[in-house]
Amino acid sequence: MGLKILFFGDVVGAIGRNALASVLPGLKDRLAPDLVIANAENLSHGAGVTEKTLLELSAAGVDLFTGGNHSWNNPLGVPLFDDPAWADLLIVPTNYGDAKNGRNWIIRRVGDTDVLIANLMGRLFTHPDTRSPFTSLDLLLTQQRIRDTKVRIVDFHAEATAEKEAFGHFADGRVSAVFGTHTHVATADAKILPGGTAYITDIGRCGAEDSVIGYEKKTAIKAFLDEGSRGYDLPKTGRAELNAVLATIDAETGKTLALDRIREFVAV
Ligand SMILES: [Fe+2]
Repeated sequence: MGLKILFFGDVVGAIGRNALASVLPGLKDRLAPDLVIANAENLSHGAGVTEKTLLELSAAGVDLFTGGNHSWNNPLGVPLFDDPAWADLLIVPTNYGDAKNGRNWIIRRVGDTDVLIANLMGRLFTHPDTRSPFTSLDLLLTQQRIRDTKVRIVDFHAEATAEKEAFGHFADGRVSAVFGTHTHVATADAKILPGGTAYITDIGRCGAEDSVIGYEKKTAIKAFLDEGSRGYDLPKTGRAELNAVLATIDAETGKTLALDRIREFVAV
């Protein structure tokens, strides 16, 4: 049997939220996950979070939220990262270069099992002051509460495929899963590493399909043509793609028994 964790990649803006809310009830019926996690760094109009948008996804059935470099982009959401009311619900990668506040791991009781969820940021092509995710993981695993928790999920929010694969192998056998987020483009390499760690380079986005990483394609192309041009628009409606992974983890050993990619499409 094992513990089933359903993890959605970066949810991008209203179209991503609406798509997730429409598909999640059916997915829950079909897959019966014990815990549903989503990366929320792009939740609020593509950058950052707000209480309203988080509550929207909580109501839709997401149990817990991770983040990334954009988590701090909406000032309305920043206080939530230290708010006791969100202590069991919301984490951010505090090893990120100019991370302002927050906590980067929590232990959540799921049925009879404690589950660690941790969030780390990659260094390559991100903020130059980002602290090493490798040594950050070592440090996390010295903590007694974490050592006592067998099921350990890491959202590794990073840009470079090599850093992500290297981190996966570094973590193999020490955590139950390393799920890549941040690029918004799903990779096909979901696998269980030799030590029993579930790994995927990037889960992919929950957001607009006909887009550039979830953002409106014309403004994205313009940004590349006009160097220095900033600010992508977000499509409001259209077909959305929803990318997730479902890991089945042995609660006794913390090793992953099965890993499946989930990819759904819905018009919103
Ligand atoms: Fe990101």
